[in-house]
Amino acid sequence: MEKIILTGDRPTGKLHLGHYVGSLSRRVLLQNSGEFDKIYVMIADAQALTDNADNPEKIRQNIVEVALDYLSVGIDPTKTDIFIQSAVPELAELAFYFMNMVSVSRVQRNPTVKTEIAMRGFEKSIPMGFFCYPVSQASDIASFRATTVPVGEDQAPMIELTREIVQRFNHIYGDTLVEPEILLPENSACLRLPGTDGKAKMSKSLGNCIYLSDTAKEVAKKVKSMYTDPLHLNVSDPGHLEGNCPFIYLDAFSRPEHFGTLTTDYQSLDEMKDHYTRGGLGDGTVKKLLIAILEEELAPIRARRAEYESDIPGVFEILRKGTEIAREAAADTLSDVRKAMRINYFDDVELIAEQAKKYQK
Ligand code: TRP
Repeated sequence: MEKIILTGDRPTGKLHLGHYVGSLSRRVLLQNSGEFDKIYVMIADAQALTDNADNPEKIRQNIVEVALDYLSVGIDPTKTDIFIQSAVPELAELAFYFMNMVSVSRVQRNPTVKTEIAMRGFEKSIPMGFFCYPVSQASDIASFRATTVPVGEDQAPMIELTREIVQRFNHIYGDTLVEPEILLPENSACLRLPGTDGKAKMSKSLGNCIYLSDTAKEVAKKVKSMYTDPLHLNVSDPGHLEGNCPFIYLDAFSRPEHFGTLTTDYQSLDEMKDHYTRGGLGDGTVKKLLIAILEEELAPIRARRAEYESDIPGVFEILRKGTEIAREAAADTLSDVRKAMRINYFDDVELIAEQAKKYQK
């Protein structure tokens, strides 16, 4: 069986370092591993509209933003197919049939949907489209016969639901669709990067993000204002590492070769941590190293971004071509789906002959 990846993001804002450590850098590794026959990355605009119906302009503006983020981190359009969800209507078609494969109470039990409903204040009145998005997501995955879905832990209930729906579909209509597997991030330190304010998660609404599109100056400024250890008032005081943003970011971004090059005072991150907890190491020094390490990572991303920004029509062309390829793949699956469901009436010569006989006078 072919190994096929499908993953994606809602285009509700530009992507930040949390996305980068959690998913984007992994996608580039998977893309370059040569282990997959096909990789699709979807800009999930239709899903984004399920809770932004009154603000389509936000989604419209963020299509290119997200595409630029993808391209700049190294998602290569010659290896990965980047496409726009709403431009593949087959996805909506399969979602419509999938709704018959699942109950309302099953979707209601989805913990991610539960949290999102609470966060959006939808308890009293949930938009139907929003409520159904997990079913639509199952269709996104199944339409590409994806075997592998690299996503964060919060998406696990969606993949589980997809597997159930696919099983049910195959049970009723015969083996047609593929049950996907989730591919979780490897490194638990990378599962979730805190915001620069020390809050659990980077989030646009909290204003605690470092964006991939930030300038070197903006990144340095944000790192300098990062939350550290409120008890570490004097350099000589012993410092604490728990919840200390610069150290959490160093866990995620530093590599052994940074020690001895970007700093000559320490041979390893552990040595630096020891000094900090002992006392005598100032936050400013830690932040300075973090700025240098982030710059090493972000400078090439910024350079690639500048190239693509200078040819925005070219970016749209990449999306148009990617969407064309994606649409062909989904149309192929949907043709099999219609056949399995026996709703391919016009191609069903048997049905036509049988009905002709039935009504013969
Ligand atoms: N729900 C995902 C998110 O919020 C985006 C998404 C939509 C997705 N369809 C998908 C991810 C299919 C993986 C596979 O990030």
